[in-house]
Amino acid sequence: MGAGRGDVTVLPEAVDALREWQREGAPFQLHPGDLGWFWRFGEEALTAAVRVWRRDGRVVAVGLLDSPGLLRCTIAPDAQQDESLARRLAEDVSDPERGVLPAGKVCIDSPVGTRFKELLFSRGWQTDEPWTPLRRDLTSPVPDPGARIEVIGPDRAHLHAAVIRASFERSTFVDERWHTMASGIPYADARSLVAYDGDAAAAAVTVWSAGPGKPGLLEPMGVHRDHRGRGLGRAITLAAAAALRDLGSSSALVCTPSSNVGAVATYRSAGFEQLSEIADLRRD
Ligand SMILES: CC(C)(COP(=O)(O)OP(=O)(O)OC[C@H]1O[C@@H](n2cnc3c(N)ncnc32)[C@H](O)[C@@H]1OP(=O)(O)O)[C@@H](O)C(=O)NCCC(=O)NCCS
Repeated sequence: MGAGRGDVTVLPEAVDALREWQREGAPFQLHPGDLGWFWRFGEEALTAAVRVWRRDGRVVAVGLLDSPGLLRCTIAPDAQQDESLARRLAEDVSDPERGVLPAGKVCIDSPVGTRFKELLFSRGWQTDEPWTPLRRDLTSPVPDPGARIEVIGPDRAHLHAAVIRASFERSTFVDERWHTMASGIPYADARSLVAYDGDAAAAAVTVWSAGPGKPGLLEPMGVHRDHRGRGLGRAITLAAAAALRDLGSSSALVCTPSSNVGAVATYRSAGFEQLSEIADLRRD
């Protein structure tokens, strides 16, 4: 068992493992779509940011260093109470020498209920700011979004990228990043959508399926700052849910900082159920 990094073959395995581990009712966790969204920085950057832990050759935990001090990781359902894996993970994330997390203030996003998380608490890790997961069941058809929606292919990528840049402060999502993202393995099960306000592309989302009968993910979703407050956040979120349903997803999931009250209100308005808050673990 060890933390694999920088190995070119690691991405297909990590994506497959994350797809397999998604299931209804599981606590919110790292999704293949998170690797898909990170893919915009390129395969090499993603490979350097992904960690896998194996037991008897099989991948049992996957981590994504989403930013230099934030590790998002999840564990195979049948290994979440495994004491030796939990200890190995806890040691790997606690010791900067192991190259998983740097020294200093760092955070870990990992699902609730694992032995690993218990161990981190017992080692003095603290809870960080609260996040709100939301879920929309996709058993029944999704209502019409009430806006013109377009599925974005490579020729219209610039529209999607421009809306994302106008939605998020400091976004670096230029057209080229969209194309790089779309070249990634997870994008085979993804769709990028844009909603229009008149003739203007005004809201955008990318949705990621993890395969039929599994929860799909929205990442990212945003409305152009000049087109807010007109129901387009609700519209693009409904369109996202419908696209995931078409891809066979059993539910649509999203997670946002609880402080982002506009996002929580928007998802609720599009029929998402607000689930119990979760929090990263922080070491100062
Ligand atoms: C959050 C965001 C998507 C909302 O887009 P929008 O087009 O203004 O939202 P809508 O007009 O469709 O509003 C949907 C609902 O949310 C409510 N809402 C929207 N922004 C709100 C805010 N800042 N505070 C409180 N409620 C808000 C609306 O009142 C509406 O409620 P209702 O349907 O019950 O009447 C937009 O502000 C945005 O892109 N923010 C930056 C990117 C972001 O945070 N994305 C989500 C990350 S997970």
